[in-house]
Amino acid sequence: LSTVVLAQAQGTWPTKPVTLVVPFAAGGPTDVVARTLGAAMTRTLGQTVVVENKLGAGGTVAASYVAKAAPDGYTFFIHHNGMATSTALYRKLSYDPLKDFEFVSQAVEVPMTMLARKDFPANNLQEMVSYIKANQAKINLANAGLGAVSQLCGMMFQRAIGVQLTEVPFQGTAPAMNALLGGQVDVLCDQTTQTVPQIKAGNVKLYGVTTRNRVKVLPGTPTLAEQGLKDFEVVVWHGIYAPKGTPKAIVDRMNQAVRTALKDPDVIKRMDDLGAEIVPDATNTPEALHAWLQSEINKWGPVIKAGGKFAD
Ligand code: MLT
Repeated sequence: LSTVVLAQAQGTWPTKPVTLVVPFAAGGPTDVVARTLGAAMTRTLGQTVVVENKLGAGGTVAASYVAKAAPDGYTFFIHHNGMATSTALYRKLSYDPLKDFEFVSQAVEVPMTMLARKDFPANNLQEMVSYIKANQAKINLANAGLGAVSQLCGMMFQRAIGVQLTEVPFQGTAPAMNALLGGQVDVLCDQTTQTVPQIKAGNVKLYGVTTRNRVKVLPGTPTLAEQGLKDFEVVVWHGIYAPKGTPKAIVDRMNQAVRTALKDPDVIKRMDDLGAEIVPDATNTPEALHAWLQSEINKWGPVIKAGGKFAD
């Protein structure tokens, strides 16, 4: 873009709908966060925030797409821990998460829940672990592909109890949840932003939450760690990015729009109802997101490499 065009773009941005790319299927946990924020941001920006679901390879197809998209302020990306874990899971990535993006803002943190299909023959975590150990060969574990947090949680769980299950990848945990509801898969670890309504409706069995502390929206549900899976902790965090080179003035305005959305009463209520926690405003800066991503790459890299599961 020429300097003149760029200056004009920054002055009036946005003059058309802004796309927010979601790396997983519509209706799933990442999509829920994106659409909730997008609706509130539409009010602030005066242009529609359009959610586009770009599926595949545990979120890396979407990340690669956004890294190569025009840095004109009309393409943004929401992604979770997968932005960090994929660097260890994939031998070759066509993008560098730290270098090929502008960092906009952190957003929310979400607990995960360990679930099984409704008729799974175990009524608590202890029974679940015993049953899985005794029937390892026939248990299917659903996830949203290598790079998805459902895959990360499932990997940690298998390692914690010492089993290797058949993993069934979907293009998001929305279709994985449908398979669990239909009884085509047995076990799924997924974010509360999708699972709370299914848990409350009694459509799935719940064995614990993956956070260090119990979760307000699921009172009475113990953590996996307190039930004996020592130090088990997976917390999902969502960040918002833009292609590298997106003008700083636009990134800053998008940052403001995200932060305004996170103070919107409708967003607060919906996130609260779904167990998601809004990141404190003071840490919702591009710099904080960059530092956090770096720390997450450092944290998960060795954990994943120890698991020895990679894709090209
Ligand atoms: C995941 O498992 O990483 C995501 O929650 C998938 C999704 O948002 O569908």
